[in-house]
Amino acid sequence: MSYIHITERGYVATLTIDRREAMNALNSDLLTELSESLDKVRCGGARALIITGAGEKAFAAGADIAEMREFSPAQAEEYSKHGNAVMRSIELFEVPVIAAIGGYALGGGCELALSCDIRLASENAAFGFPEVTLGVIPGFGGLQRLTRAIGVNRAALLACTGDRIHAKRALELRLIDELCAQGELMERADALADRIARNAPLAVRAIKRVLRDCEGTPYAGTICAEASAFGGCFGTEDQLSAMGAFLKLNEKRPFVGR
Ligand code: CAA
Repeated sequence: MSYIHITERGYVATLTIDRREAMNALNSDLLTELSESLDKVRCGGARALIITGAGEKAFAAGADIAEMREFSPAQAEEYSKHGNAVMRSIELFEVPVIAAIGGYALGGGCELALSCDIRLASENAAFGFPEVTLGVIPGFGGLQRLTRAIGVNRAALLACTGDRIHAKRALELRLIDELCAQGELMERADALADRIARNAPLAVRAIKRVLRDCEGTPYAGTICAEASAFGGCFGTEDQLSAMGAFLKLNEKRPFVGR
């Protein structure tokens, strides 16, 4: 059974989670397929990736409650590790990942959005961590990422109450980065991905690497990582050509990723 559609348009790839009959809930097979889809996109040379949910009702309504219900503690721990590994591979994916969120992003679905680099949501999006109402806690790295995104106190407020919030409030809390009208979600996500994809790909990858490598690292270490990545951009065809074009030494050329 296929739960993920991969579409490619120029240098932009889109992964669409399609399990509409269960509000795109993330069961084990879907998580495995998501991981395999990331590998396929990686081989295809995309410069930006969009992850979204099929239909207008849900981005993803969390981990699969039917699958989890009878888990033993050991099985639940394995499931959590599986989900965590997939979220981490999105977080560390070589190119920027945009979450295009329409409808519910609850529990593991919100954790999936949090593992992306940029979160764009439409006005009908709703966010929350209902795990506590089911007797469990977020299991895909969500507590850490939520804390990083909105701070420990607001993370406690959301995760301990299980309250659901709407997109406007999510924007105020910085849980999402941009908000758009409901019918415009994919158009806006595509436009954002295009803006990223037309920049120098080696530089964009270096930015993502530095941002992710430096999270939680002391300042002195981050400066070294940034300086090294900055140095790595020099001498590439793209750098020489783009700076040459600015200085009117040569024509402006599309970026080639070398
Ligand atoms: N797991 C499994 N199935 C789910 C699901 C989930 N997380 N969310 C929705 N579904 C299924 C429903 O069981 C229902 O299936 P049937 O048609 O076979 O009955 C179908 O999707 C449609 O759902 P509803 O009828 O409930 O639709 P609604 O519009 O009335 O409500 C909703 C939508 C608010 C998203 C509601 O479905 C809901 O609350 N879902 C659960 C959300 C949740 O608690 N997520 C957290 C899961 S725990 C977790 O994620 C742990 C972790 O971090 C690893």
